Amino acid sequence: MTDTGQKISTPLIELDRRTVIAAGLGAAATISATGQAARAQAGAAAATAEAAAPAGIAMTIAPRINGQAMRMKIDTRTSLLDLLREQLHLTGAKKGCDHGQCGACTVHVDGRRVASCLTLAAKVDRRFVTTIEGLADGEELHPMQQAFIDHDALQCGYCTPGQIMAAIACVQEGHATSRDSIREYMSGNICRCGAYVGIVAAIEAVAQGGQA
Ligand code: FES
Ligand code: FES
Repeated sequence: MTDTGQKISTPLIELDRRTVIAAGLGAAATISATGQAARAQAGAAAATAEAAAPAGIAMTIAPRINGQAMRMKIDTRTSLLDLLREQLHLTGAKKGCDHGQCGACTVHVDGRRVASCLTLAAKVDRRFVTTIEGLADGEELHPMQQAFIDHDALQCGYCTPGQIMAAIACVQEGHATSRDSIREYMSGNICRCGAYVGIVAAIEAVAQGGQA
């Protein structure tokens, strides 16, 4: 894959940049498009999580995750990121630094962006959690997901779920008023590929379209 969109060929596989991007966003889109399956999987995983929680340091929480009411027993030391990824198998939120410094794990709790690696799962009891898997409406991508595709706002895609969750919050908070302001309020989300120009353009487009 190259920045110029040239095709990379091997004897076994042929990919172009667009295909890779579509596949990357597809991590969100596919999961979202198959939202029912994802929710069913998460529900089943929650049951597993309850069985797996160690006795003595467990508590029961009842969050609503991506619109689905859940009830599960957790280890009180579990981070929200680990609850999502390890117990519910919602792997859109990424573990980058695990120290609140990269933004790859960004999700929404009660509509506000949080670093899920720094948020205890115990804190989301009876609260609303939205992850990248919960954004699309069936086959239809969230406008910010679509804008990231349209503005070529990713390369490897590792930071993209966190960037999109932060980007939606940035617009909803009213901070996407200029490119400088977008840069300032997205500064907690690091992109190792340096896709910042496209990211800012995508956010600006969504803000101007009033779609977030
Ligand atoms: S993994 Fe949470 S901020 Fe880096
Ligand atoms: S697109 Fe690779 S880390 Fe951002």
